Amino acid sequence: MTKAQSTISPAQLDTIPVFKPLLEEEEIQACVEAMELGWLGMGSYVGQFEQALSDYLELNNRHVVALSTGHAAIHLGLLLAGLQPGDEVITPSFNNIADFQAILATGAKPVFCDIDETTLCIDLNKAEELVSPDTKALIAMDYDCLLCDHGAVAEFAQRHGIRVLHDAAHSFGSKYLGRPVGSFSDMTMFSFDPVKTITCIDGGALIVKTEEEAEQLREMRLIGMGQPSQVMYQNSRAWTYGVQRLGFRYHMANLHAAVGLKQLEKMESISITRQQSGILYNRLLEDVPFVRTPETDFSDVTPFLYYIRVPKELRESFREHLSQHGVDTGIHWQPGHWFELFKDCRHGDLSVTEQVGHEILSLPLHSHMTEESVQRVCNAVRQFDCG
Ligand SMILES: Cc1ncc(COP(=O)(O)O)c(C=O)c1O
Repeated sequence: MTKAQSTISPAQLDTIPVFKPLLEEEEIQACVEAMELGWLGMGSYVGQFEQALSDYLELNNRHVVALSTGHAAIHLGLLLAGLQPGDEVITPSFNNIADFQAILATGAKPVFCDIDETTLCIDLNKAEELVSPDTKALIAMDYDCLLCDHGAVAEFAQRHGIRVLHDAAHSFGSKYLGRPVGSFSDMTMFSFDPVKTITCIDGGALIVKTEEEAEQLREMRLIGMGQPSQVMYQNSRAWTYGVQRLGFRYHMANLHAAVGLKQLEKMESISITRQQSGILYNRLLEDVPFVRTPETDFSDVTPFLYYIRVPKELRESFREHLSQHGVDTGIHWQPGHWFELFKDCRHGDLSVTEQVGHEILSLPLHSHMTEESVQRVCNAVRQFDCG
């Protein structure tokens, strides 16, 4: 018995994890093939993954650039927006730490905005009050199965002459007014990290409107080397090149793209499994008095999380109860303005964020979920004595 195996108790083995990547024979075989190919950096699989993403997202006149992480995609998107030290980016405080750090990495500052009570996405009325002469961009993040009002976001940005970075880390596979997320925003980022709807082990992508911006991104992901991606997509490289802009080691690796390609092929079943789990959760939990479920019927969305809201004073004991009943939980997220590093950032009224930050809780949702596992989680929820 290995050391790792010996530390897992039988009770833990039976726990339903909050996340679990769907790694099957196809992904393992793809890894073997990518290793046998022996071209581990950016190469042919990356080009194929970009093409497959473009087809899946119906990107007729937009360009997708595959990157190492979602964080890298946000960082590069904000640099494309031309951010300079002293500029400001309006972001929901209820967002992932990756967004705040990416803003900081450009030298700009996050300005924290509140969220809408129902959609948990940015409250544009409150964002209106935060616009200043230094505002250069707004991050519109779709929270789980709830999408931003992207029509209103685009109108807001146009009126204020700012760029929009659509953080769609949670909404890969969802549709907004019938159009695939990724196909309509100014810039859209996706994350393919280990726990996302589809994974590349780690990975990300940024979708932009012009070939000119895509070309800048292709250089920026290769530490600024003016190295034609088309050459690398043939598992080859140029030994001489120009360098004309700031760059980072942000390219996607071939091995990761090989996994992503296999995941993408399964997207239809991944989407259905997640959607059905969300629908069942909502039905089984609708009459539990201390639980507030997402206000959606899940049509046209591929949920990344299944979140609920429980009263602040119950959350820790409830988590403990679920853990004892073999149900893992997560917290997405602690708001940005709670962190030491960001506590002095400008912000407006954050009363909804403040409340949601204390109430939010993620229940297990992944592509291995069965009806029986959702029922097991819901039974454990019902057994909680809320006093
Ligand atoms: C909303 C959101 N944005 C950005 C990220 C960062 O993506 P990555 O983990 O690929 O860097 C995440 C990751 O969890 C996320 O949930």
